[in-house]
Amino acid sequence: MSKYVAAIDQGTTSTRCMIFDQDGAVVAVAQTEHDQIFPKAGWVEHNAIQIWDNTRKVCAEAMAHGDISTSDVAAIGITNQRETTVVWDKTTGQPVYNAIVWQDTRTDKICQQLAGDEGADRFKAKVGLPLATYFAGPKARWVLDNVEGAREKAEAGDLLFGTMDTWLMWNLTGGVDGGIHVTDVTNASRTLMMDLATLDWDDDIVAEMGLPKSMLPEIKSSSEVYANARDKGVFAGVPLGGILGDQQAATFGQVCFEPGMAKNTYGTGNFVLLNTGEEQVLSKNGLLTTVCYKIGDSKPIYALEGSIAVTGSLVQWLRDNLQIIKAAPEVEDLARSVEDNGDVYVVPAFSGLFAPHWRSDARGAIVGLTRFANKGHIARAALEAVAFQSKEVVDAMNADSGVDLTELKVDGGMVVNDTLMQFQADLLGVPVVRPKITETTALGAAYAAGLAVGFWKDESDLTKQWAEDKRWEPQMDGAERDRLVRKWNKAVQRTLDWVE
Ligand code: G3P
Repeated sequence: MSKYVAAIDQGTTSTRCMIFDQDGAVVAVAQTEHDQIFPKAGWVEHNAIQIWDNTRKVCAEAMAHGDISTSDVAAIGITNQRETTVVWDKTTGQPVYNAIVWQDTRTDKICQQLAGDEGADRFKAKVGLPLATYFAGPKARWVLDNVEGAREKAEAGDLLFGTMDTWLMWNLTGGVDGGIHVTDVTNASRTLMMDLATLDWDDDIVAEMGLPKSMLPEIKSSSEVYANARDKGVFAGVPLGGILGDQQAATFGQVCFEPGMAKNTYGTGNFVLLNTGEEQVLSKNGLLTTVCYKIGDSKPIYALEGSIAVTGSLVQWLRDNLQIIKAAPEVEDLARSVEDNGDVYVVPAFSGLFAPHWRSDARGAIVGLTRFANKGHIARAALEAVAFQSKEVVDAMNADSGVDLTELKVDGGMVVNDTLMQFQADLLGVPVVRPKITETTALGAAYAAGLAVGFWKDESDLTKQWAEDKRWEPQMDGAERDRLVRKWNKAVQRTLDWVE
């Protein structure tokens, strides 16, 4: 009997392979970063070949670190940065252009054209999303419109479209030698082209998007055996049993299986997902309706999502662009070197503002500067920006669902930061709770794959594995909280209407 399940987590900044045992404990991990390519202001690209090479490398390294043989692995799950789009030639296996990353804003005009007189919510009732640069469909359209010869090749049936799950799955199952071209419902729900009710591509929207249907992958559930790995790597022969977009995977890893349960992941960006059960709740407050997961033949479970583009990547920006810290974890000490934010606010609208504003024309700002302000205040304001943005989407969620969140489960790299977690609890006025295993994204993908092969029996098996590590109770007085939120809202106003 195999002892482990592997997860490949293809994220925005790095690719990881994690191997879990039956208790959900991590037994081996390997990780490597890939290049962030910024050809112009507002453009963000990845090299899809580099990402595939890194994937093979981290899988081999994780297996070696854990001294694990292929026969010990029951199944593999894939989780991925969502929306990031690759278009490749199925006859050569080569992408026709770099992957266009979810943060990239180049499709602003395409989105405006698609919106026309009906506005950005034109397709929202069907797909749950506003027309915004964040999503995948318009990125694929951009490739066909701008890469020489791409449209002709696409129309001849030679090009394939995929988010990163699809790209990895195609390569893991043989690539040009018969790789399968599939995605799951959670990733498909980020393209602007999947009907949330039928869980299939909407022909009218696909035609409006200007993409030949032959480019699109087949949409599958999030947990089933899609195929066995067939590449020459360490996992050859192992069933590929799970695909979940990374935020849905984190929700699954946090065992948010009941309607009303929510989590906030602090990664490159922040993403709050609230399980709404079998009901699709359409937001009136700037949130997205998305598929949370679908296990095999069971009914799909939906979520409301508040997506925030820039949180952890703001700390990277302090490190790489302003160089006021040498390593990301130093931000907490620097933030603690001052008593408070000194009236400084950072609004990191680097990719415009996502939820709940959806303004691709917004641009970042640091406001409230005086001669008193120093790098400590900027670091503190950067951490606070993460929490303020999370509060904005939680408020929108409370308004949409009519029920106030009673506590927030958190995960992701930044949840080791006590100052941030305490400030988050203070701003929300509810406890913030961190689980023992904070690698919930990879864990969620492993869970989906493990369920597909019977490694775990059902969701109740998984719920037993969740354990609380730490809880932050709100301590701030209400008047102070209101004052801070007022100032934050003023700062956000300053970032709008910057572009002429
Ligand atoms: O929608 C974008 C999201 O999936 C990216 O997640 O963790 O790679 O920043 P992450």
